[in-house]
Amino acid sequence: NWKLTNYIDETIADIKQRVGDQKVILGLSGGVDSSVAAVLIHRAIGDQLQCIFVDTGLLRKDEGKKVMENYGEHFNLKIDMVDASERFLSKLAGVSDPEEKRKIIGNEFVAVFDEESHKFTDVKFLAQGTIYPDVIESQSVKGPSSVIKSHHNVGGLPEEMNLELLEPLRELFKDEVRKVGEELGIPHHLVHRHPFPGPGLGIRILGAVDEEKVRILQEADDIFIEELYKNKLYDTVSQAFVVLLPVKSVGVMGDERTYEYTAVVRSANTTDFMTATWSRLPYEFLDTISNRIINEVRGINRVAYDISSKPPATIEWE
Ligand code: XMP
Repeated sequence: NWKLTNYIDETIADIKQRVGDQKVILGLSGGVDSSVAAVLIHRAIGDQLQCIFVDTGLLRKDEGKKVMENYGEHFNLKIDMVDASERFLSKLAGVSDPEEKRKIIGNEFVAVFDEESHKFTDVKFLAQGTIYPDVIESQSVKGPSSVIKSHHNVGGLPEEMNLELLEPLRELFKDEVRKVGEELGIPHHLVHRHPFPGPGLGIRILGAVDEEKVRILQEADDIFIEELYKNKLYDTVSQAFVVLLPVKSVGVMGDERTYEYTAVVRSANTTDFMTATWSRLPYEFLDTISNRIINEVRGINRVAYDISSKPPATIEWE
């Protein structure tokens, strides 16, 4: 694709010219945008790029490990991985209000990123995976999730370091970002990942969050996503995940009575995330994930499927 390689070559030349021999830091989340931005910038300036990956403890199962493998080992990016899970969990202890949880997670993220970025000296640029829809969105007034989202995106801008912003994907739409990513050699499954909210599993565990619930949800979610890939359904839905309800119900396992949590499987189809329908996943598939989750995840004895559209429901539960 001539236009695409041309775009990549020009952008790399621009980055080289602008950055010179200065240092750049970038908050790598493992999501599509920050990952493509990181690999692109790395092509231009190599080890002058320092990535920071904050493990909030609210990420999907093994996310930190996978990011280090996919981008640290395979693409040779310099990644500073910060395990901040204890900080996040202790700040969230006993908090069940959704908006409060979002605020705590957002603020803590900024604090951790800010502290971490000060470990690196002589940094002149902060790189971000801002894409064109983010630029538009931040110019209009929207609901609380987009406020948090933009907060999250510009979040961590360490002010006293006086950094210049480097946003090489600013003019691209999502599908173009994916094409750039693939052209740069990032595997299909990584550039086609579903979006994942900044507050992470913190807003998919209803009510108060604790380590045990995070573990339970990570296991259940991992089974769902794994089966979606295995059954070639992942790319047919826009976003899919498991929600953990703090509701226990009675069940039976062998000769034992159980009294455990309820998991809700959520999958949505949408083009713009403003409206969405629930995915018509095959019954056989739902049966498979229900059985696997109940049999393999200790702490869950009941699985429900969310059949709500947006509006009036939202995609996330909090
Ligand atoms: P809702 O739940 O509002 O979600 O239908 C629409 C899309 O936005 C994502 N989302 C968020 N993303 N920070 C984010 O970065 C947030 O606080 C947040 N809340 C919702 C959600 O995952 C879906 O893709």
